Amino acid sequence: MKFFLDTGNIDEIREGLEMGMVDGVTTNPTLIAKEKKSFDSVVEEILAVVEGPVSLEVVSETAEGMVEEGKKLASRGANVVVKIPMTTEGLKATKILSGEGMAVNQTLVFSPLQALLAAKAGAAYVSPFIGRLDDVSHDGMELVEQVLAIFDNYAFECEVIVASVRHPMHVLNAALLGADVITMPFGVLSQMTRHPLTDVGLQKFLADWKKVPKR
Ligand code: G3P
Repeated sequence: MKFFLDTGNIDEIREGLEMGMVDGVTTNPTLIAKEKKSFDSVVEEILAVVEGPVSLEVVSETAEGMVEEGKKLASRGANVVVKIPMTTEGLKATKILSGEGMAVNQTLVFSPLQALLAAKAGAAYVSPFIGRLDDVSHDGMELVEQVLAIFDNYAFECEVIVASVRHPMHVLNAALLGADVITMPFGVLSQMTRHPLTDVGLQKFLADWKKVPKR
């Protein structure tokens, strides 16, 4: 299972890389805006340290605009994945960009049929947004299960990125389903490292170590 960080924050990415837990990065306009820096400088910082796939999102709404923007983004690095919203125009752009050899991450996927369309258009990745579905009382993980089943039925090479992740249980359930990739906020990765019994156990070991004669 690949771990992507869903962030535009370079400190979080560096920390995750040191832990050996960053196989790639996903960004979106909201995450970039949080950094209060220009889009160019955020992208430059990320591409300087991340070797795996880095999803950069287009903001055009027409296929023509998305293709033009996507080509510019892709020219910034061989590991750039063009992130395109799941709209009719987005599908047209995905078909063109993937046909020219560029990797596309079809984002804002909320139904299994949207994922099927994206895979047929040639997307390398689809991003079902599970947290946002959970927020409106739909089971986000059920969507992941259905998308994985459909892709398996027809041997699509499109990888499923579980996105809009809110807590470690999303990671656990995505792993149990065999999702290819999960993209998570840095906070969720941090939470996964911790367990109260680890803390208690460590304190006991350190306290007992003080009682051991040192020579
Ligand atoms: O990167 C897209 C996705 O992960 C957004 O998550 O928390 O804004 O629903 P969220």
